[in-house]
Amino acid sequence: MLSLGIETSCDETALALLEEGRVLGEVIFSQVDKHSIFGGVVPEMASREHLRKLQPLWQRLLQQTGRRAEELDLIAVARGPGLLGCLLVGLGFAKGLSLGLKIPLVGVNHLQAHLLAPGLEQELKFPAVGLLVSGGHTNLYKIDSSIHFRLLGRTLDDAVGEAFDKTARALNLPYPGGVYIDRFAGFAEPDQDMFPRPYLDTPSLDFSFSGLKTALINHIRKHPRLVQENPLEITPESIPDPELAGVCASFNLAAAETLQAKLERAVISSGVQNVIMAGGVAANSMIREKIQGLCRRMGLNLVLPSLKLCTDNASMIACCGEILARHGMYHNLELEAVPRGRKIPWDYVRDKS
Ligand code: KG4
Ligand code: ZN
Repeated sequence: MLSLGIETSCDETALALLEEGRVLGEVIFSQVDKHSIFGGVVPEMASREHLRKLQPLWQRLLQQTGRRAEELDLIAVARGPGLLGCLLVGLGFAKGLSLGLKIPLVGVNHLQAHLLAPGLEQELKFPAVGLLVSGGHTNLYKIDSSIHFRLLGRTLDDAVGEAFDKTARALNLPYPGGVYIDRFAGFAEPDQDMFPRPYLDTPSLDFSFSGLKTALINHIRKHPRLVQENPLEITPESIPDPELAGVCASFNLAAAETLQAKLERAVISSGVQNVIMAGGVAANSMIREKIQGLCRRMGLNLVLPSLKLCTDNASMIACCGEILARHGMYHNLELEAVPRGRKIPWDYVRDKS
């Protein structure tokens, strides 16, 4: 099966070709530079960029892989959750190709695609607990098979990636801030007591990260010197001053230990042996270290995607699409985009036409 994956849910425009689970090629245009001066993604600008970039990227992907559009067996497109205008551009492109080339279409849940992405690199075993940590979501799932996901917990306010990005913004670090906090954290030892591990005093598997962000903002108020003068002069390779590095390290640790504690509870309550962590924040070195430590201690089989598969990409969309198609699950041209915050409907059709 030759599948095209299309990802336009936020600020990466990405297309990938996958053949029987093997990535033949991927092209990505990251809009990060365009949005960074605004300190976050500007939705309308992001949609316009997707519209501008999709066609040239598509031509480049065909050239790079030496394949022809007519050879495709499946078009898989991220249908949500994401920014509505951005998703609509990807869906329009997917439907146009599907209609014009008479190729089956399937809409992919972006969050499930993140969690299945490491399957491109190693075998996934089920049942598993899945921890999805991204810019928009912090979700815990019980995953019974590659198509059966049950939500165990989610964030009640900020997603963990959002807390990283807002914290970075308060420090006047560039957008997206997670990478900067992670890199700068490497220059100092964390202070265990600087920040809280929020929402652990309840048995719930939900998260709440706004308290952590607020604790950091209060800390900055007391130490205004932490706020950087000019984000445009800062790169991930910059050497931070020791006080800033200490704050980043302590924030990293608080976020990592909070995720670790809830994951441990989810594993115990669901009684599984397998754990998958995925999403942009799964690239964080402290979070990887803590989750690896937990799984080692508990004798669990942990699957972590490589760094390039953590953040948004189209290979994961193609991969998830292929799995759905193998189960006979498709969509027709009525496929709808689902914005962040709305449940993704189980609206697959059996008929490939
Ligand atoms: O999965 P993703 O690419 O997009 C969404 O679906 O949201 O995740 C993006 C998020 C951003 O919040 C970014 O700051 C965060 O992932 N991120 C990190 C790191 N790399 C990316 N957060 C912490 N540490 C990192 N190394
Ligand atoms: Zn994502």
